[in-house]
Amino acid sequence: MKFYLVLCSPLLVISMFSGCSRSERVAPSPTMEQDEVTIVQDQVPSESDQQTLVAAKEALQQRLSGRLMQAMSQGPAKAIQVCHEEAPRIAAEVGAEHHVKIGRVGVRLRNPNNKSPQWATELTDAKTASATFATLSNDHAAALLPIKLQTQCLMCHGPTDQIAPIIKDQLARLYPDDQATGFVEGELRGWFWVETL
Ligand code: HEC
Repeated sequence: MKFYLVLCSPLLVISMFSGCSRSERVAPSPTMEQDEVTIVQDQVPSESDQQTLVAAKEALQQRLSGRLMQAMSQGPAKAIQVCHEEAPRIAAEVGAEHHVKIGRVGVRLRNPNNKSPQWATELTDAKTASATFATLSNDHAAALLPIKLQTQCLMCHGPTDQIAPIIKDQLARLYPDDQATGFVEGELRGWFWVETL
């Protein structure tokens, strides 16, 4: 039963308010494509935008974790099935409720669709381990918030010799190009990215 109990341990809460805020904004370009959006250097979003971004991230983290715990009661293979089918839908749902775009990206990916948005790639390539708030060239506020690997994640993301065969089989079936194993506790696993609309 220890297996199930660890999943119920309290969520890691990352503190992530960076101090100063500036309010100047660049004129948004209505024609700007998402893949052209970049970070405007030295423009930290307002405190209230930062709070919106963090609140959305906490909602997504809690909903994913709650759903995972629930699914784990039906066994780890079922939990993977749930992550597979529901993680993207839950992210879209939380995004709609909080009026943001939100998703997760990994240092190494399990689902190749979980790519970071263009503006975040420099930060993810550099494996930025601290919370980053930025203003984007389309005038939206954005955040990239690190996710550390916790004990309860090891069964699906830990070193492969520590992953149970039933989980390995399920992962191999659903994610033939899975890169997201071999993480140790405390290691940077990935990030939540959030963007105001
Ligand atoms: C029951 C197995 C399982 C557990 C436990 C688990 N994950 Fe995952 N994780 C998955 C699956 C499956 C996916 C792919 C979801 C998808 O298709 O979008 C995933 C995807 C992710 C992603 C998105 C990036 C990527 O690689 O696709 C992150 C970040 C992540 N997990 C972090 C964590 C963290 C942190 C924990 C512990 C709090 C955790 N996971 C616990 C199975 C698990």
